[in-house]
This record gives sequence, structure tokens and C-alpha cells, in this order.
Amino acid sequence: MNSRRSFLQNTLLGGLAAGTADFWARNLPVFDKPDKNAFPVVIATWGPNLKANAAAWEVLSKGGYALDAVEAGVRIPEADPLDTSVGYGGFPDRDGHVTLDACIMNEHGMAGSVSFLEHIMHPISVARLVMEKTPHVMLVGDGALQFALSQGFKKEDLLTEVAKKAWESWKIESKYKPIINVERHDTIGMVAIDSQQRIAGACTTSGAAFKMHGRVGDSPIIGAGMFVDNEVGGAASTGLGEMVLRTLGSFLVVEEMRRGAHPQKAAETAVKRIARKYAKLCEEAQVGFIAVDKRGRFGGFAIHPGFNYVVYQGGENKVYESASFLAK
Ligand code: GLY
Repeated sequence: MNSRRSFLQNTLLGGLAAGTADFWARNLPVFDKPDKNAFPVVIATWGPNLKANAAAWEVLSKGGYALDAVEAGVRIPEADPLDTSVGYGGFPDRDGHVTLDACIMNEHGMAGSVSFLEHIMHPISVARLVMEKTPHVMLVGDGALQFALSQGFKKEDLLTEVAKKAWESWKIESKYKPIINVERHDTIGMVAIDSQQRIAGACTTSGAAFKMHGRVGDSPIIGAGMFVDNEVGGAASTGLGEMVLRTLGSFLVVEEMRRGAHPQKAAETAVKRIARKYAKLCEEAQVGFIAVDKRGRFGGFAIHPGFNYVVYQGGENKVYESASFLAK
């Protein structure tokens, strides 16, 4: 082994063996000092998710854990029968099945995910148990369902009358065409930083309405639908999942912040990447990102106008209209 490599390895192993905080402090990127007043903070996709943000804030404002906050937050739309793109009440696939995708990530970089899960109202809580109770990151389909049942979750019919009627009308023409900003491909993505500056994220959806049976979008894929890194910040996406999957969008946003970009700029970079590579597809597809960094700064950006997001910070829960790559 050449001497430089052996020096580096010995240094690394020495640091690890000693387990010194100093070692890591010396080797991590340097961030500006966080503004203590910025915390706690929670950000989520889409204006109607003010209630979800409030549920997360309820946890955070009592000094609670960011992971509990994001789970509590996204459970609100999961249980709402009027939200036709998340959980119970979500529009089904083209065969009439409501199939759900969700993922969650904590401040240690541990992650859990479920995909193509049927009959369980709170996929986010199953994802959390995948993270906490299994050696795996992701369970799908019947395996995810069996795991959920083994953990005490109840099997339920998630197809509401409204969603069934929408599916029956859709079948008349059977045209698959997600509609920009309409609750067809919306997702709740949420990132929280608690008062101890622990960062967590969650993302959950019933996916694109009338998708092919078996289709999985970006939401359960760590780094696509959501990503957090406690040294940097977190990001989540909404919109047509295929566009985000192809670019691993949330990971890109976090990596841009790691390189020093403001969350607003980082979200813009991820949208512009999609716009540059898939210009034609962008004409008919919406994608939006939200981001928050370790300093408590935040931002959001989308391909088309009409995307908005909610931020609870300093005791105020506010809707922000996102800027967009394309004009009205
Ligand atoms: N972003 C949700 C989906 O495409 O499934």
C-alpha cells in the first residue's frame, strides 16, 4: 500500500477507534452557526397542509422529537377522506386498488419505507417501524402489508365512494393524464427541525391517480421523494414522481445545500435540472421541491406556477406561494 493511502487509512481508523468528536468536527463541512430562534421549524408541501403542519408543531412546540413531529403531521392527510392523493380517500390505480407509498428518515440518517402497500391507513407509521424494527429500509406490496398486520395495524378498505366514482368516470375514457396542480399527483412531504436541532423528514402519497397497477413513484424512494442529512438540512418533493425519480431530486437539493446553497437556490437547481433534461415532458408535468437547512432557512420552487408550501416557524403557520421555472 502506498504511504499516502496508508497514512489516510491510519488517520481515519485512528479517528474512528478513538471515536473522538474532534475527529468528526475536523472532517465535516463547515456551516454558519444556526440561528437558535429559527427552531423549531416545520415545512410541508401544499397550502392545504396547514393542519398537518399544526399537528407537527404541536409536538415540536413542547420540545418534542422531530421524527414524532413529521409522523404526526403527515398522518393528518393520510386519515382525511377528502384528500384524494394521500392515504384514505386516495384515488385508486386503474384497476381500482388504492396503493400507498411512504418514507421517513431520522437525524441519524436511518430510513424506513413502504411501497405498493394496500389497506393500511397510515403507511408512514409502517415505514417508521420498518426503520426501527427491521434490518431493512424498504418493504413493498404484500410483504409490507404482512409486516404491518404483524405490528397490529388494522386492514381497512381505503377506497371511498368519492374515489370509486372518480375511478368509474375515468374508466369511460381511460386516459392517463396527471393534471398540473390538481390533486392527482400531490404528495405531502414534510421536514422538521426540533429545538435540539434534530432533523427528520416524511413523505406519503397514494401516488398518481389511475396509474398502472404496481406503479411506484418518487415518494417512498429515499433521496427522491425526501432526504435529510442532519449536518445539512432536508428536502422533499411533490408532483409527477417519474420526473423526480430520474433525477433523485431531494438528494440533489440537500447536496446543493451541502455545497453552501441557500435552500431556495438548492430547490431551484433541482427544478432546473429536470427542466433542462426533460423540457418537453415539463410542459405537462408539475414538480415542486421544499427545502430547509440546518440554519432554519427555507425555500421552495416548482416547474409551473400554482405550487405552494407551508412553514411553521416562530409560532406562525404560513402559506408561501412558490416561484416557478415556467411563467403562467
Ligand atoms: N409524487 C407522488 C407520485 O408521483 O407518486
